[in-house]
Amino acid sequence: MFETSADRSKSRGEKYTLRKSLFGDADLLPMWVADMDIDTPPCVVDAIKRRAMHPNYGYEMMGDDVYEAQIEWMQRRHGVSVKREWMFYSHSVVASISAAIMAFTARGDEVVVQTPIYPPFISTVLKCDREVLLNPLKCDGSGSYDFDFDDLCSKITDRTKLLLLCSPHNPVGRVWSLEELQRLVDICLEHNIVIFADEIHSDLIFKPYVHTPLLSIKESKPLLVTAVGPGKTFNLASLCISTVIIEDETLRERFDKVYESMHFSSGNTFAHTAFLAAYRHGEPWLEQLLVHLQQNIDLLSQLLDRSDKIKFNQPMGTYLAWLDCSGFGFRSDRALREFFIEELRLGLSPGISFGKEGRAHMRLNFAVSSEIFEDALHRISKVL
Ligand SMILES: Cc1ncc(COP(=O)(O)O)c(C=O)c1O
Repeated sequence: MFETSADRSKSRGEKYTLRKSLFGDADLLPMWVADMDIDTPPCVVDAIKRRAMHPNYGYEMMGDDVYEAQIEWMQRRHGVSVKREWMFYSHSVVASISAAIMAFTARGDEVVVQTPIYPPFISTVLKCDREVLLNPLKCDGSGSYDFDFDDLCSKITDRTKLLLLCSPHNPVGRVWSLEELQRLVDICLEHNIVIFADEIHSDLIFKPYVHTPLLSIKESKPLLVTAVGPGKTFNLASLCISTVIIEDETLRERFDKVYESMHFSSGNTFAHTAFLAAYRHGEPWLEQLLVHLQQNIDLLSQLLDRSDKIKFNQPMGTYLAWLDCSGFGFRSDRALREFFIEELRLGLSPGISFGKEGRAHMRLNFAVSSEIFEDALHRISKVL
């Protein structure tokens, strides 16, 4: 089913069009930005085609049936009950992070960020004129990452007001356990720190791991803002649609004030159509996708199994492989990046862009068709 995918090289796909400006090579194989080189599910494409046939694209509300489809999805797949009145439409999770920073912190306040991390977690805090409080993940040397609670507790001050949690974690692929999240919640409750839980990758979990939505931890209610959406799950990123869920009324009012001031509006008609179709009819497709992604990880593991150049721990979730390339012994991250571009002609995300803990790493997006993945594996095998 995922043997091949539509050719994106002539489309406006960011992953392809930015090759020249980012890598200096308009023909390399791009495996960077987190979308998929896998076609969006047919149930979504068909729904959009049907909607397109109605020749009026005027303002459209995101209907309750659309929210309802996500509520049912979250209940069915993640075992959490969400109410319609807790939900906000958002065109972008990153925009929601900005809104949360504005709503729950003031200039000079600190926002906790757990590096290595998806770069907008840091840049958004800085753009909002807030302080980044770095709480790097602990890495045990074998590529396994954990929260560093001692470091967090030792750094929290009166100005620490918000923590940006990535669950599952981009780029390290970590799925957090109930116990770990419980401990994080306890610390944040003790210090009155709001948690923004970015759970955009939460449908992309590999067996035997299970995603624990922070919403399922009842004690988190007074401090929790969650962002979820179908963008990663069903490859809908350019349709710009996600939701923010806030159960606590006081937090919701504070968020709503900023949200209203930004005029987030209610999204576009094709996004609503896709959202509904994906959550209502996309589940069998997702199950097959997860099998395909697992096959890709297994192939990568087999290739890297005995390599002393690239070390790799299978991700528990996300479709991102966090490659420890220190075995190549490059003196700088720039040299490592150039090596991947020039020798392999592969466009990966340099680990250093996720914070200094990402030194000597590269992030490879393996959500691609078998055809593309074989090509990538072939390129990597030549330099091992
Ligand atoms: C953890 C995480 N959050 C947010 C986003 C982007 O979400 P959006 O396009 O809705 O802003 C990404 C995209 O890669 C991501 O990995």
